[in-house]
Amino acid sequence: MCGIVGYTGFQDAYSVVINGLRRLEYRGYDSAGIVLDGDSSFKLAKTKGKVDDLVAVSENLKGTATIGMGHTRWATHGVPSDRNSHPHLSNNGKIALVHNGIIENYDTIKTMLTEKGFVFHSETDTEVLVNLIQYFMDVDAAIDFPTAVRYALNEVYGAYAITVMHDDFPGVLVVGRLGSPLAIGLGDKEYFIASDASPFVEFTKDAIYLEEGHMAIISLENGVDIRSITDNVKVVPAIQELKLSLEQIEKGGYEHFMLKEIFEQPKSVHDTMRGRLLVEEGIIKMAGIFDHLERFNNAGRIIIIACGTSWHAGLIGEYLIEEFARVNVEVEYASEFRYRNPIITEKDVVIAISQSGETADTMAALKLAKEKGAFIYGICNVVDSSIARITDAGSYTHAGPEIGVASTKAFTAQLTVLSLIALKLGKHNGALSNSEFMSLITELDLLPKKIEEALQSTHDITKEIAKDFVETQNFLYLGRGYNFPSALEGALKLKEISYIHAEGYPAAEMKHGPIALIDENMPIVIIAPKKGHYDKLVSNVQEIKARKGKVIAVVNKGDQQVSAMADYVIEIPETSECFSPIIAAIPLQLLAYYIAVYRGANVDQPRNLAKSVTVE
Ligand code: F6R
Repeated sequence: MCGIVGYTGFQDAYSVVINGLRRLEYRGYDSAGIVLDGDSSFKLAKTKGKVDDLVAVSENLKGTATIGMGHTRWATHGVPSDRNSHPHLSNNGKIALVHNGIIENYDTIKTMLTEKGFVFHSETDTEVLVNLIQYFMDVDAAIDFPTAVRYALNEVYGAYAITVMHDDFPGVLVVGRLGSPLAIGLGDKEYFIASDASPFVEFTKDAIYLEEGHMAIISLENGVDIRSITDNVKVVPAIQELKLSLEQIEKGGYEHFMLKEIFEQPKSVHDTMRGRLLVEEGIIKMAGIFDHLERFNNAGRIIIIACGTSWHAGLIGEYLIEEFARVNVEVEYASEFRYRNPIITEKDVVIAISQSGETADTMAALKLAKEKGAFIYGICNVVDSSIARITDAGSYTHAGPEIGVASTKAFTAQLTVLSLIALKLGKHNGALSNSEFMSLITELDLLPKKIEEALQSTHDITKEIAKDFVETQNFLYLGRGYNFPSALEGALKLKEISYIHAEGYPAAEMKHGPIALIDENMPIVIIAPKKGHYDKLVSNVQEIKARKGKVIAVVNKGDQQVSAMADYVIEIPETSECFSPIIAAIPLQLLAYYIAVYRGANVDQPRNLAKSVTVE
């Protein structure tokens, strides 16, 4: 939800900021803007649309300054428009601000400022904040710029990561954060600011991740001065060495990040297991869970909370943990859980699954669980993200940066972590015998190879099949058991990037309603691996064919029965039923990808979406 970039140093600020915005465009692409502080006053350009649109109206600013900041927006308050684009200026034109998050009490502050004579030109909450800073400086000449920012931040509720510049304080950038991420890159005689480290990874490996409730005053003269926002106490920051490389955040020859990330899955699943799955020694080593095994095994129940694709991973996690560890699991949408006054006890373990580690609903649900005394555990992809920080313990998925807005490799990495957790718990509490455990981990270890095989066997055929469905309006996805959530995920992938309406169902539910939709125009993707209610799925396919539905079957190599009835057959390698969603995800992702590409959709930046949903 919105990306922020800032720079001060010796390079051309325009180029650094624009390149940085391109890397953060996955966070929102409704509008973009830049402000530079050159020799005289601010130079500002902003426009509805993407960073390319911004470049078209601002190229004249290139080479004019060595300090500046920019923003790429996912609209919350106010429609996407030039007017609502960031940066926003204060009424006196001296303060510029970019913001990621939501100021919840903006209306009250706006009323107060309007009564004092302030005029607003946009519908955004951000414009209120920048004018509040001006207000504090207007009322008392002794209040300097950073102090006014601090005063203003103490007046607002909500979530923010901000960067602010003042025309009378040249060379100074003031940043602050609460609930939205902000990283500061420490270069040699230069500083970078960004929502994540990707905009500055080629310039420095040293970064400070600003903590919740902290602000920093950054200048070449005085370096980075970090303070707590509430009481202005100086903070000594932890400087971290970035593990991110430029290669990880570039397309590497693929047409889209999504395709690159689909093809990265043999490696990302391998990375998720690396150092954790030691087949020869017959152990799973997971630091995050090792110290808390009793807590998990004695839990009244495990509650998994997540949103979207991560919620689908959670559903499969429920099957895995209940089957192998025999611990009671419930899975909830974080957005529902947080508002429905759930019963949470100190015996509960709450697992949050989140690629970004920043999702507002998941974060809020987790905080609620923590307040009620539950043990909270995070499964996040982004290292040091907000969720990773507030949890009592956790396991990273280690899938590497996921830039395509539609989640692919993070999903299979989440399933891998959940498999490791389920097997580890089951082994520890005796629900799994040693031989069962050994056979499962041996199979788990083969997954990267089988994903590679699935990519080879399904790429060309999904690309071909996709051509026949470019004009289709609706799709059904069906699966049973472990592959019911696969059906939900397949449908979500298709709808979010191709804008085709798609629904996922447990195959047996078809006869309770969706079967009424089936006719010769309805394509039905059916996930039917050999292990996992295969006979029942054969009957479901017969029911579909009796109504002339078009069956696209995802089956194991050499399949006979379902393949004989299907209109299209996609073969994937066989694995244990519990791991089959990891393999089945591959053709479902590819099918969605190619249908979207043939429809001319922007697969990496689907309309109305953003990668990290930091608003509720
Ligand atoms: C779909 C997708 C979203 C996310 C959801 C949760 O492809 O990416 O549904 O899964 O917004 O995001 P995280 O996992 O970052 O909490």
